[in-house]
Amino acid sequence: MSLDSLYQESILDHCKNPRNYGAIDGPKVAIHQENPSCGDQIDLQLVLDDAELIQDIKFTGHGCAISQASASMMTLAVTGKTRNEARSAVQTFRAMITKGEALTDDLEELEALQGVRKFPVRVKCAMLAWNALESLLNG
Ligand code: FES
Repeated sequence: MSLDSLYQESILDHCKNPRNYGAIDGPKVAIHQENPSCGDQIDLQLVLDDAELIQDIKFTGHGCAISQASASMMTLAVTGKTRNEARSAVQTFRAMITKGEALTDDLEELEALQGVRKFPVRVKCAMLAWNALESLLNG
C-alpha cells in the first residue's frame, strides 16, 4: 500500500469537514492531549447524561489529516454510547489499528482507517483522539 492510497476519500472528507468540531457550551468534562512524537494536539470535550450516555462530544486541535479525520470519525462513532460502550469502542479501534483485528458492525465506518496499520508512525496519529477519549472516560 502506498501512502497516497492511505488517504481514502472518507478520510479526506472528514479532514476537510470535521464533524463535531468546536466547543460545548455548559457543563462538560474535558481533556487536552498531545502526540509526543510531533506535538500535535487535541482538546476533547463531552457531556455524559445521568445514564452515562454520551450526549454530546466535540473536539478542537491541530494535527495531520489522519489525526483530524480519526477524531471526527470517533465523535460520530461514540455519540449515544454509554461510558462502557465507548471504552469498548476504543479497545476495538486500537485492536484494529495495531493488530488488524475486525471491527464490530457499529464501528464499520472506521474501516477507512485500517490502512494506517501499515504505517507505524501514523498509528499514533490515528490513536490521538481515541487515547484522549479513553483517558477522559477513565478519569
Ligand atoms: Fe502529528 Fe499525525 S503527524 S498527529
